[in-house]
Amino acid sequence: MQLYLDSANINEIKQVAELGIISGVTTNPSLLAKEDPSIDVKKRINEIYSIVGGHLSVEVNSLDTKGMLKEADEILSWFPDATIKIPMIPAGLAAVKQLFDKDIPTNVTLIFSPTQAIAAEHAGATYVSVFMGRLDDIGMDSNLVIQEVCAIWEKNLFESEIIAASIRTPIHIIQAAKAGADIATVPYKVLMQSLQHPLIDKGVEIFVNDFAKMQAEISKIAPKVQKKK
Ligand code: G3P
Repeated sequence: MQLYLDSANINEIKQVAELGIISGVTTNPSLLAKEDPSIDVKKRINEIYSIVGGHLSVEVNSLDTKGMLKEADEILSWFPDATIKIPMIPAGLAAVKQLFDKDIPTNVTLIFSPTQAIAAEHAGATYVSVFMGRLDDIGMDSNLVIQEVCAIWEKNLFESEIIAASIRTPIHIIQAAKAGADIATVPYKVLMQSLQHPLIDKGVEIFVNDFAKMQAEISKIAPKVQKKK
């Protein structure tokens, strides 16, 4: 399972890209607005693209097929290998079908059930984004849903890639990987949290102290050795 960063923040993207652990970035209107409601979207998307160089999903805002396709053209004029992110509504499926016919990659977002994921696959989606956290928010079992989607994909040899999205805790990452999702798109905070462990901090502290002890001993011996010479 690959890791993507779910963010529109340049510092976060730069920092995580430097770690070499992410294979792409997903954005959405809420993440862009969180940065700055008056953000220049084209400029920010181009900045993100220059850092990640591909595998970047950019979402349309229209709710009708024609409007979505127009926005897709606009996004593709910013960078030609954009993945167009489209909401899981009937007008969105129709847009996905038309983009599929033109070989343009799409990421169908706001998927909450296996049947919605199946429909997106048949419309020609490149990626299907199953929202885990928002399912948990309404008392549903997101782990079960991601497991069902992955099992269906395996049995039917479906071709789209499954993205586990709306990731809120490191546990979601583990559940998505165990289920067999292709990608988990993770917010910065959760990704950094998933790297931490108190035993790492303790272990590093022990190594640092022991290294300092060795250095102190060496510096005691070094002057004696020099004197002998
Ligand atoms: O990838 C989708 C994500 O941005 C939504 O996350 O936490 O708003 O449900 P959340």
